[in-house]
Amino acid sequence: MAVAHTLSLHNISKYYGKLAAVDDVSMTIERGQFLTLLGPSGSGKTTVLMSIAGFVEPSAGEIRVDGRPITHLPPEKRNFGMVFQGYALFPHLTVADNVAFPLTVRGRPAAEKAEKVKAALDLVQLGTLADRLPRQLSGGQQQRVALARALVFEPDILLLDEPLSALDKKLRAGLQWELRALHRRVGTTFIYVTHDQEEALSMSDEIAIIRNGKIVQKGKPRELYDRPVSHFIADFLGESNFLAAEAGEASGDGFAYRAGGSSFRQAGARPAEARVLVALRPAKIRISTAEPTDAVNRIAGTIKSWSYRGNEFHFLVGTALGDMNVSQPTWRARVEPEEGLGVWLAWDPDASVVQRELV
Ligand SMILES: Nc1ncnc2c1ncn2[C@@H]1O[C@H](COP(=O)(O)OP(=O)(O)O)[C@@H](O)[C@H]1O
Ligand SMILES: [Mg+2]
Repeated sequence: MAVAHTLSLHNISKYYGKLAAVDDVSMTIERGQFLTLLGPSGSGKTTVLMSIAGFVEPSAGEIRVDGRPITHLPPEKRNFGMVFQGYALFPHLTVADNVAFPLTVRGRPAAEKAEKVKAALDLVQLGTLADRLPRQLSGGQQQRVALARALVFEPDILLLDEPLSALDKKLRAGLQWELRALHRRVGTTFIYVTHDQEEALSMSDEIAIIRNGKIVQKGKPRELYDRPVSHFIADFLGESNFLAAEAGEASGDGFAYRAGGSSFRQAGARPAEARVLVALRPAKIRISTAEPTDAVNRIAGTIKSWSYRGNEFHFLVGTALGDMNVSQPTWRARVEPEEGLGVWLAWDPDASVVQRELV
């Protein structure tokens, strides 16, 4: 469909009085990417997206498309599509007329409109519902109409602000797959805003995590999940156990550290500072009743509580390192869960990551 463009933000800030809703954000979004802006509520996601769209004027900085500044260009001159959480369809217009709207305001001839509306509706698999009114559609179908409307004029970039958050969980999962597939089909840059970690991890080529108006880490979903640069990110992108540790001697391809009165090993370079925080995902810990004598890192503990979550067990295990969260696929569990049961926890030196930043 449309030709994708490279978008870049250069030191963008937006102040409301003294509040920096967006605080010195710079990033490049390569053409054709699916980039997700992920952050808690109030972190500045919508303000960044609205600055890109042209509805919010940045207090400082520059926005460029293929190197050309567009910071002060009005929204209608940017040729970006937008989809919001609310569907914002015209209730008195049919599906076809809703989708045709952007072409109508651009004064396109009827024949071209009919052809493009049909193509856009086929793209979101709504070809058979063209004559319905919005109220005759489900929430998921209405959001697909909004998508078709945002894509019908072949935008250079599609901006999506929490488009699935009004839908129930099952429907949302279905539309996540569809949006991914749609992105591959049209090849346009998608900039997607969400506060939902799982959604971000499953859909994106790249994720930029935003906190207090600042981008704190940007990378591929697996990089962010496996190598979070801060406590905040390790915690925000799923759960982690944090071990306050003292780094020791470097040797081989890693180094030793002490925590809770015992010694453990960590893969990778020894950090410059001695006091470190080791982050360990619950799913990367093995649990057993027998001592795993061949495990490099192991510690004894007691099951304090546990829960069954269908495909996995969740354990809270009291140890000399403090309470540890452990999750285990039910099919692989080597422990019959029971409160008060003595267990062993084990993990590999490369299962954990050392946090560079103590925040
Ligand atoms: N028009 C506005 N006037 C004043 N403050 C605003 C305005 N828009 C957003 N803010 C504030 O800026 C911060 C970021 O808001 P927003 O970008 O909507 O966050 P998010 O989309 O991540 O929830 C919040 O503290 C919010 O209250
Ligand atoms: Mg928002």
